[in-house]
Amino acid sequence: MVEVGLRELIEIKGVKKIYQSKAGPIHALGPIDLTIGEGEFVSILGPSGCGKSTLLLLVGGLLEYEAGQIYINGHLVDKPQTEIGIVFQTPVLVDWRDVLGNVLLQIEMRGLRKQDYIEKARNLLRSVGLAEFERRYPFELSGGMQQRTAFCRALIHDPPLVLMDEPLGALDAITREQLRVDLEQLWLLTKKTVLFVTHSIPESVQLSDRVVVFTPRPGQIAEVIEINLPRPRTIAVRESTEFQQYVHQLTSIFMNFGILRDMVGSNYQKSMVGEE
Ligand SMILES: Nc1ncnc2c1ncn2[C@@H]1O[C@H](COP(=O)(O)OP(=O)(O)O)[C@@H](O)[C@H]1O
Ligand SMILES: [Mg+2]
Repeated sequence: MVEVGLRELIEIKGVKKIYQSKAGPIHALGPIDLTIGEGEFVSILGPSGCGKSTLLLLVGGLLEYEAGQIYINGHLVDKPQTEIGIVFQTPVLVDWRDVLGNVLLQIEMRGLRKQDYIEKARNLLRSVGLAEFERRYPFELSGGMQQRTAFCRALIHDPPLVLMDEPLGALDAITREQLRVDLEQLWLLTKKTVLFVTHSIPESVQLSDRVVVFTPRPGQIAEVIEINLPRPRTIAVRESTEFQQYVHQLTSIFMNFGILRDMVGSNYQKSMVGEE
């Protein structure tokens, strides 16, 4: 359920995705029913191959679906959506443009006036600690800085919805920890609706208002857990008993699926509980 007072932004009704492959049809996802409120940070949490990326692509209008409907702001998603921002696991920056130029690429590609967005781009970059780096090129940046640039690029055109597909997944553990903090900061500042895909349990707890737990493929919603922890989720919050209880609760769900178990075995998924 969407929290009382939140206006619905995304409505997913009975959505199902079946890929056609040479080996035959692959039922990747669904049926899924999910409603996401405006300004919510919602994580899709599940093991590899359960259809998380598929769901994100469907919401973005980048894939066709077999059954059901997806609405954004009351409009049926039947083509690629333009009023969204997307962040992938890799930053996908243009090598020959500096940081500011990469953020503004979003604006230029949309045929908007670059001059109108320079100030905003600088503000976004400042909020993620990149104020001093706007003239640097991607090769001069660390992976974390590149991904921060990608966050800014996904927000510069002020989309109501941002889709993030494991955006911290390729970073080392310490950078990842920092980027979680930066991402929450950015979200608190912009109050966008975020649909965030992850396979990390602690990450989902740290960032989300709600965690939507997926079953193994075909991905269906096993549970939706509301995370009632104060924000910003400081180190004190992360070390609290309540935080650990949420981690425990989510871990138990995956243990029940047989995806996690106590002994290291063939289907032990380290990436779900720890830092990669
Ligand atoms: N284009 C495709 N054609 C056939 N099968 C696909 C395609 N894309 C994804 N799949 C399959 O669908 C399932 C879900 O994929 P995906 O959404 O990428 O999972 P996740 O993001 O949770 O790891 C996987 O089993 C994957 O192999
Ligand atoms: Mg994926």
